[in-house]
Amino acid sequence: MSKFPKFLMVASVAALTAAPAMAEKLGLGRAATEAEVAAWDLDIFPDGSNLPAGKGDVWTGEEVFADACAVCHGEFAEGAGNWPKLAGGADTLDHEDPLKTVGSYWPYLSTTFDYVRRSMPFGAAGTLSDDDVYAIVAYILYSNDLVDDDFVLSKETFSDVVLPNAEGFIVDDRAETEYGTFTNRCMSDCKPGAVEITTTVVFPGDPNSGFDATPISQAVMGTAGATPDAAASTEEASAEDAPAEETAVVGEVAAPAVMALDEELVAKGEKVFKKCKACHKVGDKAKNGTGPILNGVFGRAAGTVDGFKYSKPMLAAAEGGLVWDETELSGYLANPRKYMKGTKMSFAGLKKDKDVAAILEFLKSHSQ
Ligand code: HEC
Ligand code: HEC
Repeated sequence: MSKFPKFLMVASVAALTAAPAMAEKLGLGRAATEAEVAAWDLDIFPDGSNLPAGKGDVWTGEEVFADACAVCHGEFAEGAGNWPKLAGGADTLDHEDPLKTVGSYWPYLSTTFDYVRRSMPFGAAGTLSDDDVYAIVAYILYSNDLVDDDFVLSKETFSDVVLPNAEGFIVDDRAETEYGTFTNRCMSDCKPGAVEITTTVVFPGDPNSGFDATPISQAVMGTAGATPDAAASTEEASAEDAPAEETAVVGEVAAPAVMALDEELVAKGEKVFKKCKACHKVGDKAKNGTGPILNGVFGRAAGTVDGFKYSKPMLAAAEGGLVWDETELSGYLANPRKYMKGTKMSFAGLKKDKDVAAILEFLKSHSQ
């Protein structure tokens, strides 16, 4: 922090003083006056160099602060409303939610002086005299318990004050010390074996937006146990089911248990089922995954798939005699967590009625 700006400043001053020659040559501009350079050259360095003449004590500071700063920063610099706190927070930097103030966080007092002189009071910068700035900074130190109430801040006493976090900033040397660890990238054949997606994230905002943080097609391919082949044959199985059902519909009288199916709606439901696929399987080779198999779920008692570990609320509902009929399924799928507090199904719900109708038809088609 200290060397770089100084270097920059020296360079810019050099540029300014070199300018007249160039200006003369090109017939442009004029040399900056000494007063202009002085007005611009405000930077104060951690060692106190470039500080203006003047001084201020804590009590004067309290008065000026009450007038010019307290509306936003509080009577005791403790902050007001959402305006920054300038005091407090000692020893909180290693907390999860540290309070960073001039007292607890800022490494050098020169920054405080420079900042206040340049930019405060907010909206009326430049209205404070240098003595006022000295007094206010003394008061901010006092509010942070860093000086006694008889302290007078001046160019002479400036370096007597060392802020608690002076040693807290270090030069970032990770580029040298950790270079090897973060440049060791693997570009091919990195991890032996197939990548396995063990869990998926379903975006809770809008389940119908189609946004799914884990692309479901990949999740299905990668789900433990389900090889691409198995996934494909599940698809085939459901495709094969369809004509059989049609026959069944024709033979309604012969098989009274069979429900009438709207094939078009089943097809739509199959699309909606993409939202469920990451967790649920249907078809001949279906296995339990994050969620239970859904074969036969329509009209079945809730929470009864063998080998699936249901949540307590689901088991309680099952004990209470919950059967997945049209009404119950619609309620659950539209808003799982509202329907059943504590359910393990982390799915936001189907917002559109027509999606619910379609998925029910699809589940029906796998329930006979
Ligand atoms: C109208 C409200 C207002 C007034 C009056 C005001 N400030 Fe501020 N102050 C702010 C805001 C807003 C910020 C944050 C600015 C930013 O983050 O860019 C701030 C930031 C600061 C900071 C830096 C805090 C930090 O930790 O980042 C200091 C120091 C400060 N003000 C001192 C003063 C002093 C001294 C006065 C009186 C001379 C004063 N302010 C008057 C609104 C105000
Ligand atoms: C992120 C994973 C996940 C998604 C996505 C998901 N479910 Fe579930 N589902 C579960 C889990 C886990 C359970 C078990 C809930 C419990 O035990 O509380 C469950 C339970 C169910 C049940 C009750 C089954 C039973 O045996 O009682 C039905 C019906 C159901 N889900 C249908 C769906 C449908 C339809 C979709 C898509 C619209 C879907 N789920 C999306 C994880 C999911």
